[in-house]
Amino acid sequence: MNSRSFIFLFFVSVTLCSHSPQASAVARSFQLSVQTSSPFSIALDNLQSQIDYTFESIGLLRRAMTHASYSEENNKALSVLGGRLIEASAALQLLTKNVDISTKDLNRLIVEIDNVENSCSADGTHLGLQKIVRVSSKTNSTSPAVVCSAFRAIFGAIAVDTGSLDEARSVFWKVHKGGFGRAVAM
Ligand SMILES: *[C@@H]1O[C@H](CO)[C@@H](O)[C@H](O)[C@H]1NC(C)=O
Repeated sequence: MNSRSFIFLFFVSVTLCSHSPQASAVARSFQLSVQTSSPFSIALDNLQSQIDYTFESIGLLRRAMTHASYSEENNKALSVLGGRLIEASAALQLLTKNVDISTKDLNRLIVEIDNVENSCSADGTHLGLQKIVRVSSKTNSTSPAVVCSAFRAIFGAIAVDTGSLDEARSVFWKVHKGGFGRAVAM
């Protein structure tokens, strides 16, 4: 069989399969069992319960939990959005409490809440992201930079999922642990 007729037959069989309800039911249940049995999918489900947010588009959470070392399709851009969102949320909260805050204090507290070494990786580790995030075999998934990018990307992903910053902001305050809460309350 030459390659052209092979390709033709391939398309005929794909077309026939996709028109058979039985075949697509089999395909769906196969897909379902693949989805429910993969440890990564289970971890994504658990993470959604932990953050108390269910994604419309689970692909966004899958991407948020994918480090740049693992795939071209990764969390880098979502992480940029998430980081900015955390900073803006912190600034809003601080200014709401005290509109006279100095720029020096404001900047210091913003840096503190999104600090890679402490706040950000501590929050991410608390959620267990080091065990979920997909990295290449040469990458250490417990390193603060990896955990942090995954943590920030969650909020970028929620913002894209909802088309708004509000839900992402409220999920951030729910999962954020650490010193900044005390600083804001002062
Ligand atoms: C991975 O990173 C963590 C945190 O930085 C470190 O404690 C650990 O030793 C590293 N593991 C390896 C195998 O390099």
